[in-house]
Amino acid sequence: MRPCSAASRGRPQSPHPPTDSGSSSMTMQPWFADAKLGIFLHWGIYAVDGVAESWSFYANEVSYGAYMAQLDGFTAAAFDGDAWAGLFARAGARYTVLTAKHHDGVALWDTAQSDLSVVKRTPAGRDLLAEYVGAMRRHGLRTGLYFSHLDWSHPDYATLRHTDPTRPWITDNPYTMPPEGQEDPERWERYLVFHRAQLRELVTGYEPDLLWFDGHWERSERQWRMSELRQELLAMKADVVLNARMLGHGDYATPEQGVPISPPEGPWELCLTINDSWGHRAGDTNHKSAGQIIRTFAETIGAGGNLLLAVGPTEDGTITPEQTARLEGLGGWIERNREAVHGTERGVPFGHHYGPTTLSKDRRTLYLHCLDAPREFVALRGLVTPVKRVSVLGTGAGLAHRTVGGFAGHGVPGVLYIDPPAELDPHITVIAVELDGELELYRGAGHG
Ligand code: GLC
Repeated sequence: MRPCSAASRGRPQSPHPPTDSGSSSMTMQPWFADAKLGIFLHWGIYAVDGVAESWSFYANEVSYGAYMAQLDGFTAAAFDGDAWAGLFARAGARYTVLTAKHHDGVALWDTAQSDLSVVKRTPAGRDLLAEYVGAMRRHGLRTGLYFSHLDWSHPDYATLRHTDPTRPWITDNPYTMPPEGQEDPERWERYLVFHRAQLRELVTGYEPDLLWFDGHWERSERQWRMSELRQELLAMKADVVLNARMLGHGDYATPEQGVPISPPEGPWELCLTINDSWGHRAGDTNHKSAGQIIRTFAETIGAGGNLLLAVGPTEDGTITPEQTARLEGLGGWIERNREAVHGTERGVPFGHHYGPTTLSKDRRTLYLHCLDAPREFVALRGLVTPVKRVSVLGTGAGLAHRTVGGFAGHGVPGVLYIDPPAELDPHITVIAVELDGELELYRGAGHG
C-alpha cells in the first residue's frame, strides 16, 4: 500500500515557488536552529478509520460523508499530554508541532468560528489543543501548531466547482480552488475573515512558539494577502516562528520526505514520516528502522537543518509501540552523542569527510559522524587548523591520529588519519576532533 499516494497525486509537483525557500531578512529565533529535532503530530478524525488525512475525500477514495462520519468515533480517550511530552523529550526533541486543523477543517480546539471541532462534534468533547500546549510547556518543549490555510469543509472556501486539468482523476471537484479571477469575491472575503479569526484564536489563546502552515498552494500570495498576514501574526506575537508555506513570507524552508542533496542556505527543516503516512493508518507497516531515522537525522543536522519527525497517534491518542520504539532509539543515540547535536551548526561541505559532520558553535570542535564501522582509519581532508585531541563521543576514549602528505610550501594540507575506535556506537559513532583554533579548511584545487 502507498498511503501517501493521495497526497502526492493531489499536489502540484512543485508547490513552493523559488522565493519560498525560507526567508530572508528576518532574524530567526535562536531556539529553532538549536532545537535540531521536532516531533510532528497529525492527529485527527482520519485516525478512526485509518484513511489518509483529508486527502482521502478530496481524491474520492472515501465520500465526504463517510469521512466526516469518523467524527463519531474520535474519542481521545487515552490521550495523556504529559506521557506524549515525556516520550518526545526522551526522543531528544526540543519542539513539537500538532495539527490544530488539517485541510478537512476539523479543529482540535473550541473554535468560536464554526462548530466543526472535536470539542463540539466528537465524543472527545474537550479542547485537546489546550491539553497539548500545557503538557509540552510543562516538559520544556517549544510548541508548534500546524494550520492549513485552505479548508475543504468551509462553505465559502471553494467558490466554484471546477475541473483541474493537472489532476484529471479529480473531476468536478467541489473542494478546491477556482482559477484566479473566477471566484466569487464576496465569499472569498468571508473566508478570509474566518481564516484570520481562527488564527487569532490560536495565537492569542495558545501563544505558540511556531506556526506551521500548509495548504497555501490553492491560492496566490495576493489572494491570501500573505504579507499582511505575516504582519498581523507578528503584531500578535512578535517572536512566533513561521514556516515557509506562506508563499515567500515565512522564516524557513520545509523540504518534505527527503534530505535535500544540496542543502538550503538559510534555516530549514525536513519533515519526515516514520512509516509512509502522516496520520495513523493501521495497514501501513512500512516503518523506517531506528538506524535509518538516526542516519537521516545526522545527515539533516550536518547540512544545517532540523528534523521534524512525524508521528500519527491513534484516534484515542495512543502512540503505537512501533513509533515509540523508533523515537526511543533516536533519543538513545542523541543522548550518547548530545555534544555533536545540540550547540552545533552545519558541518563542513561534502568531500572532507565521508559522512555527515557538525561543528561546535565556537568552531573549535568538528564532529565526524561515521555511518559505517571504520576499518584502517577515519580520514579528514583539507584541514588547515592543527589538531589538539581526537576522541570518541559516548566513551570519551582518545584516538591516535597523524597528518600525512600534503604540499606544505603551497598551503595544501595533508590528510588527517585517525585510528578507528575500539568500541563503536550501535548506530553512528561520532569522533570529536578538537582543534587548536577556529576551523580553517583548504578548499583549493591543489597545486601543480
Ligand atoms: C503533505 C501532505 C499533508 C501533510 C503535509 C505535512 O503536504 O499532503 O497531508 O499534512 O505533507 O508536511
